[in-house]
Amino acid sequence: MNLVHTVAEMQARADAARCAEQALALVPTMGALHAGHLALVEEARRRADHVTVSIFVNPTQFGPGEDFESYPRTLDADLDALRSVGGADLVFVPEVGEMYGAHAATSVEVEGLGDHLCGAHRPGHFDGVTTIVTKLFLACRPHVAVFGKKDAQQFLILRRMARDLGFGVEVVGVETVREADGLAMSSRNRYLSAGEREQAVVLSKALADVRLQVESGERQAAVLVESMQMGIGSAPLARLQYAEVVDTETLQPIETLQPGQEALAAVAVYFGGARLIDNTFLDVPG
Ligand code: PAF
Repeated sequence: MNLVHTVAEMQARADAARCAEQALALVPTMGALHAGHLALVEEARRRADHVTVSIFVNPTQFGPGEDFESYPRTLDADLDALRSVGGADLVFVPEVGEMYGAHAATSVEVEGLGDHLCGAHRPGHFDGVTTIVTKLFLACRPHVAVFGKKDAQQFLILRRMARDLGFGVEVVGVETVREADGLAMSSRNRYLSAGEREQAVVLSKALADVRLQVESGERQAAVLVESMQMGIGSAPLARLQYAEVVDTETLQPIETLQPGQEALAAVAVYFGGARLIDNTFLDVPG
């Protein structure tokens, strides 16, 4: 696999692939790759001739006191993981200085979609994400970019950004890949102790319960939120940060689910220092 370190080389290679009339896909990651990321690479491969995976731990999306310094950096293992699914055409691995330079004064903000869920608890996080993804789009020039729906708010914000700015990039979301007991795969699961790992199953269970309630006709978001709070509360080691039900277009909380509406039920929970998120999309019958 070819590793590319600079934006100029990345753009030149992407331009060459475009000139050869190849369809280009990008899978942006921060590394520490697991089966969830590999599913994104496989989806990218299905949709394009040429796949770039970027690996960049983006400092601007971490707040003070978050895990930027300790975030796992595992390039050799990541390359092995990529090889196990047939590799990528290019792996873009820039340094921080290459992506931001010394005097970067520009950032990208999608207004209004970051007020709830993770955005309410991680000020500036989504501006960091939208800014780096814009830079990655400009460097890698993809036709398609593939993201995990586990980070549902991120996926919905990036889809809106690509639409609003007319990037000509199709933003595709891939279903969350889960461990056998339902825990969503995440690079942060490695922070869990054995006891925390056992109890972390409450996130996916709480969300599965909500799905069942909606299928049985429940339409009051307050009831669904309370059910998630109780489900998470059943794990003594869990500290709930939020449980919300929002509309997928506006990302604003919903009071009553409407026929035909697509909603998102989402939770964020601390186990010790590890912050885990999970969600489920709810299709309300019309
Ligand atoms: O989901 C992630 O890993 C990151 O937020 C992303 C999209 C690669 C931007 O740094």
